[in-house]
Amino acid sequence: MSGFDTLLFDKTDGVARISLNRPDVLNAYNIQMRDDFSQVLSAVQDDPDIGAVLITGEGRAFCAGADLTEFGTAPSQEVARRVRWQRDVWGQFLSLRKPIVVAVHGYCIGSGLEIALLGDLRLAAQGTIFALPEVQLGMIPAAGGSQTLPRNTRQSGAMDVLLTGRRFDAAEALAMGLVTRLAAPENLLEESMDAARRLAELHPDTVTAAKSALRLGQDLPLAEALDMETRLAGGVLR
Ligand code: COA
Repeated sequence: MSGFDTLLFDKTDGVARISLNRPDVLNAYNIQMRDDFSQVLSAVQDDPDIGAVLITGEGRAFCAGADLTEFGTAPSQEVARRVRWQRDVWGQFLSLRKPIVVAVHGYCIGSGLEIALLGDLRLAAQGTIFALPEVQLGMIPAAGGSQTLPRNTRQSGAMDVLLTGRRFDAAEALAMGLVTRLAAPENLLEESMDAARRLAELHPDTVTAAKSALRLGQDLPLAEALDMETRLAGGVLR
């Protein structure tokens, strides 16, 4: 699979690496990137040779958020946002049966942070700057951020990030639980590839069941969540 305008794709050792590839604009997320992601995620879901996904960004930033120039060309911000919703890329991320490792560096802003939050393990290079500036721009996050942020951090911290749009660094992101761990910038790719490779070596049914148990369980009452865990645990006994 190749030939995406906005993404690089390669497959090694059972890991599909998808890299945001608009470095001149700090990998700003545009409509074409949405379409490319949609296509690549469908292919990854169906490829039995892929056991894990690694998402990275080319150049000096992971992603500086939604492409602000597209907001200017659309008839209105509302239309620009609606266009993004016409494909449920965020749903595709969340329903991916394979584990997703996201490695962020430089800037991880707006949609960039929301993409990271749709992953399962998040590694950040020391020095990465994070923010969700949507509210300051008269919008709210619409790539799941208002839901995925409080599910990964404490509610009060999430509200602060959401309402103030303030920038914060990787050390704070780690303390909030927003990222899984930090890496030296020069080691980020190697460490995140190692993490993805280890996940790719596991039995796919086990990984899918564990992921589902945690993701689905957090939105269920405890008794139902425990039932679900029992069913999933039975399903992976071999
Ligand atoms: N959409 C479109 N283009 C963007 C962009 C975005 N979200 N973020 C950065 N770019 C472009 C800049 O316009 C610039 O292009 P140019 O070289 O043609 O002028 C290029 O990327 C480099 O950005 P620059 O601002 O020069 O880099 P910086 O290191 O000085 O600042 C940021 C980095 C991330 C602080 C700054 O680019 C920024 O604030 N971006 C917007 C973040 C944002 O509000 N995102 C929307 C969230 S909803």
